[in-house]
Amino acid sequence: MRTLKPMVMAALAIPALLAFSPVIGGAVAQEATAAAPKPPSAKRLYLRKTCMACHGRNGARAIQEYPDIAGLDAAYIRTQVKDILDKKRQGSNDPVTGHPRAESMRGSLVTSDGEMRISDDEIKILADWLSKLDPAGPQVHDPALSADRIAAGEAAYKKGKCRTCHGVNGNKPLKGYPRLAGQKSAYLQVQMTDIRDGVRTNGRSRMMLPFVKRLSDEEIGALSDYLSQIDPNQ
Ligand code: HEC
Ligand code: HEC
Repeated sequence: MRTLKPMVMAALAIPALLAFSPVIGGAVAQEATAAAPKPPSAKRLYLRKTCMACHGRNGARAIQEYPDIAGLDAAYIRTQVKDILDKKRQGSNDPVTGHPRAESMRGSLVTSDGEMRISDDEIKILADWLSKLDPAGPQVHDPALSADRIAAGEAAYKKGKCRTCHGVNGNKPLKGYPRLAGQKSAYLQVQMTDIRDGVRTNGRSRMMLPFVKRLSDEEIGALSDYLSQIDPNQ
């Protein structure tokens, strides 16, 4: 009988709470009856957090020169999103906006007071989902790239020992590293240039520096065109 007492008291207290605050009362009632909360669907999160506006349907139809992100390694996606939100990865200035390239993404996910609009759990759900989607590419070039151009890029890829970390044709990267096959040429070009010039230094990008620091703009252009033409789904 003794053990019942607190329960009775609680039962009496709830209607009192309800009378003062219908909102709190509603939440309590819901929590008591609902099953364990379902994790939000990744696809819904992708829409709600506005990722789709820039990276396109299923992460494979990004706008402008923004990266396609479907099929990238989950750990790589997670660290990049966090680095962008923490301002550790900003990139060179976008010629259209005049701001660092990653600033638009940060602006959509962090308020002007520095409050995050996305949690670590939500980033993980999105990264796991995106990593399982089919990557975009090969990218369409108009006019089509010449065979000579592709061959020059392929030769530079071999000579540059890129394969050590990004795998054959940029398509079988080491765990936690980005796939390059089928990515947009303009995006790859900017990233390689930013890493070479010490503008992008986040994560493990410094490891790549010895391999890119002697590359000319011309070689970076050929490498990017070549990689954009590899079918990542093969
Ligand atoms: C307003 C546009 C915008 C929105 C919204 C946006 N992004 Fe981005 N995202 C970008 C841009 C631009 C870059 C490339 C930045 C650079 O060039 O350094 C980027 C880069 C990334 C990268 C790194 C890709 C790579 O290959 O290194 C990932 C991963 C990513 N975004 C995921 C997301 C996710 C997940 C969301 C939603 C939670 C999101 N983004 C919302 C514009 C956006
Ligand atoms: C020692 C390992 C290593 C080698 C060799 C290497 N890279 Fe990388 N590369 C990386 C890592 C790690 C990253 C991701 C950095 C990070 O953590 O943000 C990266 C990032 C990139 C990116 C940006 C990808 C994206 O989605 O934003 C491009 C493009 C790239 N590498 C091209 C190359 C090319 C071309 C070569 C050869 C000339 C090369 N890399 C050689 C390790 C390497």
